[in-house]
Amino acid sequence: MSAGNIASSPLPVIAIDGPSASGKGTVAALVACELGFHYLDSGAIYRATAHAARQGGIALEDEAGLVELAHRIELRFDGVEVYLNGAAVGDVIRTEEAGRAASSIAARPALRAALLQRQRAFRQPPGLVSDGRDMGSVVFPDATLKVYLTASAEERAQRRYKQLIEKGFDANLTDLLQDLRDRDTRDAARAAAPLRQSADAALLDTTSLTIAQAVARVLRWYREGLDQAAT
Ligand code: DC
Repeated sequence: MSAGNIASSPLPVIAIDGPSASGKGTVAALVACELGFHYLDSGAIYRATAHAARQGGIALEDEAGLVELAHRIELRFDGVEVYLNGAAVGDVIRTEEAGRAASSIAARPALRAALLQRQRAFRQPPGLVSDGRDMGSVVFPDATLKVYLTASAEERAQRRYKQLIEKGFDANLTDLLQDLRDRDTRDAARAAAPLRQSADAALLDTTSLTIAQAVARVLRWYREGLDQAAT
């Protein structure tokens, strides 16, 4: 399979979109590491914003309040840690509950618009690998390489289960599968930047791939694209 659209842009961006627990975050971070690029976990921005709303007593339905909050919060990434107004929130924003809250506020177009510039600011030399739902379609439409990374819902539920158990959280496989399906439906059905594979994104189904194989595939597509662009 050949890669999706390889465009020549001033600063390379690899946009990796896909559903929850597809492994896109792990793959994106490893690709970034391999290339020496920056990494943006855009889901963490939505998760941290939802967390800040909870802390500040702002209802998840209060779009104007969320927009104001989005402009006000200070967010910093340091490796896998996320700092919200100076406090480490990496673990609290990774729970299923935090994921549901993020998915809920992410359906608000004005909030998405308010978070756009914050995400684009991550495009710094020598390049960026970003993961989310709308990296290739909205945030970086001129991305050098766009990948839609997915896996079956059952496989994703298994992976999430393993991840949670390893971190010492309680988890139930049946609930996780239902939660993933609900979240996929909500993320795909919303009017604003819905989750879907865009025509110019290369499909990477990782159901029966290891992480290393998925990383190698993205790197190969990226390098092939650079070769093509150079000829
Ligand atoms: O990737 P994640 O599971 O950490 O994302 C949490 C939620 O945030 C997800 O259910 C939908 C939303 N999200 C989004 O709408 N757009 C993005 N670019 C990233 C995440």
